Amino acid sequence: MTQSYDAIILGAGAAGLFCAATAGQRGRRVLLVDYADRVGNKILISGGGRCNFTNVDAAHDRYISANPHFARSALGRYTAADFVALVDRYRIKWHEKTLGQLFCDGSARQIVDMLLEECAIGGVEIALGRPVHEVTHDGNFRVTIGDRIVTAPALVIATGGPSIPKIGATDFAYRLARQFGLKLVEPRPALVPLTLGPDEALFRDLAGVAAPVIARGDGPGFAEAALFTHRGLSGPAILQASSYWRHGQPVAIDFTGGRGADWLIEAKRINPRASATKTLATALPGRLAEALAERLALPGNLADQSDKALRHAGQRLAEWQFRPNGTEGYAKAEVAVGGISTAELSQKTMESRKVPGLYAIGEAVDVTGWLGGYNFQWAWASGWATGQSL
Ligand code: FDA
Repeated sequence: MTQSYDAIILGAGAAGLFCAATAGQRGRRVLLVDYADRVGNKILISGGGRCNFTNVDAAHDRYISANPHFARSALGRYTAADFVALVDRYRIKWHEKTLGQLFCDGSARQIVDMLLEECAIGGVEIALGRPVHEVTHDGNFRVTIGDRIVTAPALVIATGGPSIPKIGATDFAYRLARQFGLKLVEPRPALVPLTLGPDEALFRDLAGVAAPVIARGDGPGFAEAALFTHRGLSGPAILQASSYWRHGQPVAIDFTGGRGADWLIEAKRINPRASATKTLATALPGRLAEALAERLALPGNLADQSDKALRHAGQRLAEWQFRPNGTEGYAKAEVAVGGISTAELSQKTMESRKVPGLYAIGEAVDVTGWLGGYNFQWAWASGWATGQSL
């Protein structure tokens, strides 16, 4: 028997759950479908189990997209403050960790439970644990889930991106978009550790060392910690820069802590008898200071060096060029950059212009946030925008 709904939402992650609750509470008959056995798997592992559920600074300029203005409308209509008000209504305790990032005091489970309760209030039917075999469209959308056929005039793609396949992430959203003739912006792993080749062996010996830096791919600089790993570079500053990095490009790291290229010249005036290693170690971990000084080849005291040599060394320190040979891929990426092209979608409702009734929300869309709660805020905002229009 075929059952019909007002809307079928594929993917019971952050965006799908929130969209379903929003539409359900507006009186729509909603079926929320996921092939996993439980909802919100990524929410549950997010933020180290505490879910960094939003960022108070969420605005469109903190998102990467072929159309940098696309996210402005949805983010402006459903804000971080709106989501915090919901979290407060459920008496979920939270704290700001750093840089506007809001985390649960307790556990990410609380956010999933809240979303499930919001869905229950909206009378949302949830179908879990069965694969989506087929989606067709003949005016209505017709979806085969396991041995069941369901139809609706509206279908929402909310199956996320391909990062962390071991918890069930797939490229289903992209495949479905292609089936309906929607364009994709070539996806690639983002918020991902970068790998270094054999020529950077000196730095791979520093595995486990973390330092405050400013890291930059082909975009803004991020002043946070970088971490040297056995395979290359990680830590929040590097993850952020990775979203703007492309194969073949360098990543520039400022090791001067904002002191700039004149750091060593000024240090020479203050303490001419200090070595380069000792000077660098005033701001950086000892092992890193040694490795950098070795590369800079500044023997003896600072007083033994000309200002020209120190300025040249300072310039290298302020813009140290690493040439990653790759990333750790979707297995380690928090998100994907790219996805369903925003050129195909209404920025107000996320509805496809080409296929009326077809919507795409959350990470499936070519809108990728910075690290720190921005991606969940996009999931809530885009889910809300669609939920309002179903
Ligand atoms: P999401 O991935 O949440 O949901 C997609 C759903 O679709 C899943 O339930 C999946 O099972 C389902 N699905 C997939 N394929 C399917 C198919 N073929 N058929 C049916 N269902 C299918 N962001 C943030 O803002 N703060 C944070 O703290 C973190 N932390 C974090 C940690 C880790 C380890 C990762 C990997 C990611 C984060 N993120 C994050 C990013 C955040 O998790 C991500 O941006 C959102 O979950 C995206 O929400 P969506 O609903 O779009 O996809």
